[in-house]
Amino acid sequence: MNLRSSITHWKPRFRKLPGIGIARFLYRLLKGTESRNLALLLLRPPKGLYQPYGTTSYDRYQEIFRYVRTSLGDGPQLRILSLGCSTGEEVFCLRSYFPQATILGLDINPFNIAVSRWRRLRRRDSRMSFAVAGSTVGQANASYDVIFAMAVFRHGDLNLSPPPSSSGHLIRFADFEESVADLTRILKPGGLLAIQNAMFRLRDTRLAKDFETVLELNLDDKVPLFDRNNDLLPDCKYPDVVFRKNG
Ligand SMILES: C[S@@+](CC[C@H](N)C(=O)[O-])C[C@H]1O[C@@H](n2cnc3c(N)ncnc32)[C@H](O)[C@@H]1O
Repeated sequence: MNLRSSITHWKPRFRKLPGIGIARFLYRLLKGTESRNLALLLLRPPKGLYQPYGTTSYDRYQEIFRYVRTSLGDGPQLRILSLGCSTGEEVFCLRSYFPQATILGLDINPFNIAVSRWRRLRRRDSRMSFAVAGSTVGQANASYDVIFAMAVFRHGDLNLSPPPSSSGHLIRFADFEESVADLTRILKPGGLLAIQNAMFRLRDTRLAKDFETVLELNLDDKVPLFDRNNDLLPDCKYPDVVFRKNG
């Protein structure tokens, strides 16, 4: 047994030891912003939560952002949504690609949004805003030119070696399909939807017929993929990352 598989083997047993839950909570509170926000969120996990971990960094998605910028250009009329923006790095980075656009960052974790708003204060940017939301139901029909849903439709605890046979105890395909249906509703005809680091495939949803894939990336990651029944798709890769909504 190598180190990684022995950690995978012992982790669930270790978590059941008495006092481990409290110790882990206190450790997360003190470790840093991302882990503190996670600990506070998990005190009362909200309905509709996918990836609870707020891991993010500035300019993580250069090829995708560059592609979208080249395809759509920039301008004050351009409306961009970042779903699952965590502590704002993605939105601040998008601003450097789209200096004039109107950008909204949504996140289900209110502690992440508080950090994003605090960071925004220093920027005095009136066309950038943040809000707490676990879905896009509050957004108007056909109101966005581009939507980014990066590293949201996944769950870090499924990223095991070997991967679990089902995702259903943590995230479900049916919820993903509903989320994509609502993203389709709020996207303008001809608009772009970017989904990366997801554990489900847009091509398996009933919305697939409404989109054409316009950008594929051969990513060297080992994210497990699950099908419509939440069952593992063994050795499956899905390079499609940007989709254009049919006009
Ligand atoms: C790994 S972070 C991704 C951050 C950023 N998009 C990136 O790729 O760098 C995932 C984020 O998705 C958020 N999230 C999870 N489920 C969500 C939901 N239903 N609606 C909105 N945000 C959600 C989490 O709170 C977390 O901040």
